[in-house]
Amino acid sequence: MSSSGEAELLHTFKGIPFTTRSSPELLKSLDTFDAREDDVLLVSYPKSGTHWLAGVIMKLYNTQVTITSPIELGDISRLEELNKLSSKRIIPTHLDYNMLPPNFKNKKCKMIYISRNPKDTAVSMFHYYRDNPNLPTVDSWTAFFDLFLKGNVVCGSWFDHFLSWEEHEDEKNILFLFYEDMKKDLPKVVKEITLFLSLNISDDDIQDICKKSSFSEMKNDTEKENSDPSHTVCALTSNRKLIFRKGAVGDWKNYFTPKQNIKFQEIFNEKMKLSKM
Ligand code: A3P
Repeated sequence: MSSSGEAELLHTFKGIPFTTRSSPELLKSLDTFDAREDDVLLVSYPKSGTHWLAGVIMKLYNTQVTITSPIELGDISRLEELNKLSSKRIIPTHLDYNMLPPNFKNKKCKMIYISRNPKDTAVSMFHYYRDNPNLPTVDSWTAFFDLFLKGNVVCGSWFDHFLSWEEHEDEKNILFLFYEDMKKDLPKVVKEITLFLSLNISDDDIQDICKKSSFSEMKNDTEKENSDPSHTVCALTSNRKLIFRKGAVGDWKNYFTPKQNIKFQEIFNEKMKLSKM
């Protein structure tokens, strides 16, 4: 990673690297955030399919809902802005469970956590680092691979993030989803989401929503600016065009060397030994 620029682009809060798009003052005051019982949180480690999930969820409501920008994005004035919203709020975040404003937990707000094979997440994040001016530059895949495994990337360790949320998987207000399941059978996952959110949607409508949420449709919509090009659900950029890259399962095989794969697997097995994944 180049050292020039890094200092200005990232800062560390409670041991986790954030971009300077998340001000320390905002991060410090998240604990005072006033959640509402009907808030829905969309939680992910970056590059896990957050925009895909957000795209689906927005099509499920026929009442007025607002998908906000991530709760950790901006300066202290964000909290006031979010407070002023009168419609139901769908709030994205990349925060790990321990940093989540306690009010969301106390009020048992519904939370959907989307996860993805960390190998594909790493490759997706590598490209994001390369394309996104808000992130430090990386010299090579090899250099990024090491940073990712050490958790020395924005939002910290994938393992810590996943484990912090997985610990709460059995709580009734938390739904765990996997990117790979969405790729395999999107209507089935969408049905699961509708049940979780207590939304009554016909199977025909679910099929229609799935068609409109395919990778190509969402990418086209963004390129044709059928959706707001400056609105993302990621605290790391506001440029939607950076999001829709390949949308595939298993792209890691095009990047990991056999040696990297063994190293990843060893660390995965060690870190995830108590995980059900
Ligand atoms: P790739 O970089 O592997 O292509 P996030 O929204 O959390 O930033 O995740 C971005 C990843 O989700 C990118 O992965 C992107 O292509 C993929 N993605 C976005 N929309 C998708 C869709 N409709 N279907 C499949 N993958 C999608």
